[in-house]
Amino acid sequence: MATTVILSHDHRTLTSGFNCGKFLLDTYIKTQASQDVKRKLSACFVSVDHVSGLIQGYYTFSNNSIPLGLIPENYKNKLPVSYSSGPATLLGRLAVDARFQGAGIGKMLLIDALNRSHEISQSVGSFAVVVDPLDDEAARFYTKYGFILLPDSHKMFLPMKTVGRLFEEN
Ligand SMILES: CC(C)(COP(=O)(O)OP(=O)(O)OC[C@H]1O[C@@H](n2cnc3c(N)ncnc32)[C@H](O)[C@@H]1OP(=O)(O)O)[C@@H](O)C(=O)NCCC(=O)NCCS
Repeated sequence: MATTVILSHDHRTLTSGFNCGKFLLDTYIKTQASQDVKRKLSACFVSVDHVSGLIQGYYTFSNNSIPLGLIPENYKNKLPVSYSSGPATLLGRLAVDARFQGAGIGKMLLIDALNRSHEISQSVGSFAVVVDPLDDEAARFYTKYGFILLPDSHKMFLPMKTVGRLFEEN
C-alpha cells in the first residue's frame, strides 16, 4: 500500500527545490533530513511525482513517548498503573510542496504514515501516533483526521487502536 519511499542519496538534487511555504519544514528537508536519517534520529519518507520527478511531499518518523500525566483519562486507564509514559510514534513533520497542494497528497501522505505506523506497532510497541503541528493551520489539518489535543501541550495524538480500525475496515 505504501506510496512513499525512504529518502536516499538519489533525492539530493530534488530536495533543494522543495517549497511548502513553511520555512522550518522547507529548511529541514533541504539541509537536515539526510543527516538525521544517517544518524538514526528520524526516518524520512518522500513521495515523488512520476511525471516531473519532483518531490511532492515528505514526512518523518521517530520513536516517542507520552508522559502519563498528559494522556486524557479515558485513554490513560488503558495503560498499566506501573507505566510512567506510553510508547508512541512521532510523525514529527509532514509537508506538501506548494505546487502539489490541494490535490490530495497531504491526505495520501497521512494515510501512508498511519498505515506504516500501524505496521511498525506490530513489531515495536506503540499505543498512539503523535504529531507536533507547526501552527493552527496544521492543527486544523490533523483535527480533520481525528487527532486529539494532548492537554497542556500543543502536540496531538491518535490512538493506535483507532489507526488499526482504519485499515481493518478498508
Ligand atoms: C497541510 C498540508 C500538509 C495539506 O496538504 P494538501 O496536499 O494541500 O492537502 P490535501 O489536498 O491532501 O487535503 C486533504 C483534505 O484536507 C483538507 N485540508 C488541507 N489543508 C487543511 C488545513 N490546513 N486545515 C484543514 N483542512 C485542510 C482539504 O480541504 C482536504 O479536505 P477534503 O478531502 O474534505 O476535500 C499542506 O498544505 C502543507 O504542507 N502545508 C504546509 C506545511 C504544514 O503545515 N504541515 C502540517 C504538519 S506540521
